[in-house]
Amino acid sequence: MGISDSVIIKNLFTGHIRQIVEIENQCFIDPWTDNWFEAFILSDEISWGVYIDKKLIAYLFAVWDEDTLHLVNIAVKADFRRKGIAKSLLRKLYKTALQSKIEYISLEVRRSNLTAIDFYISEGFLLVDERIGYYQGVEDALVFRKELTTYA
Ligand SMILES: CC(C)(COP(=O)(O)OP(=O)(O)OC[C@H]1O[C@@H](n2cnc3c(N)ncnc32)[C@H](O)[C@@H]1OP(=O)(O)O)[C@@H](O)C(=O)NCCC(=O)NCCS
Repeated sequence: MGISDSVIIKNLFTGHIRQIVEIENQCFIDPWTDNWFEAFILSDEISWGVYIDKKLIAYLFAVWDEDTLHLVNIAVKADFRRKGIAKSLLRKLYKTALQSKIEYISLEVRRSNLTAIDFYISEGFLLVDERIGYYQGVEDALVFRKELTTYA
């Protein structure tokens, strides 16, 4: 049995913001701030964490938008990658979306983030658009989308 078979995904709460920001700062060149995380966690949007021994090792944030759930942030602590943890988070997102009659999951990713792009393609996301200069006017975003009616 792998680690991903035993991951516990729970709603995040504001007491975990310090741990979230630690992972966020390791993962992104334009990290979200603690104020941003706090507002998100206190909202009705989706904010989940993955815990091992009460320590946060991954998280996912998503926004409801009509027929779509928009994935706005997903990250796994570096030493826990390639163990199926992000995949487990997405599986829970698909299930939640389908229960709410949501048809699509969409997201933007930096053109240079080849790891994330490989991950989304492995999950069956399709490239549907690009946004030139989306990141601070200097890097393009690729827009990926997955149609959930095809998800078994
Ligand atoms: C992208 C990210 C969330 C993937 O998390 P993860 O838990 O390592 O991913 P998983 O173990 O669930 O991978 C599932 C599949 O995705 C693909 N994949 C994941 N990482 C990959 C990599 N580095 N290279 C190639 N394929 C990769 C593989 O097909 C993998 O299956 P396999 O391990 O059986 O081959 C993680 O690398 C991360 O946190 N990156 C930094 C933050 C980030 O860029 N987030 C995305 C912002 S848009």
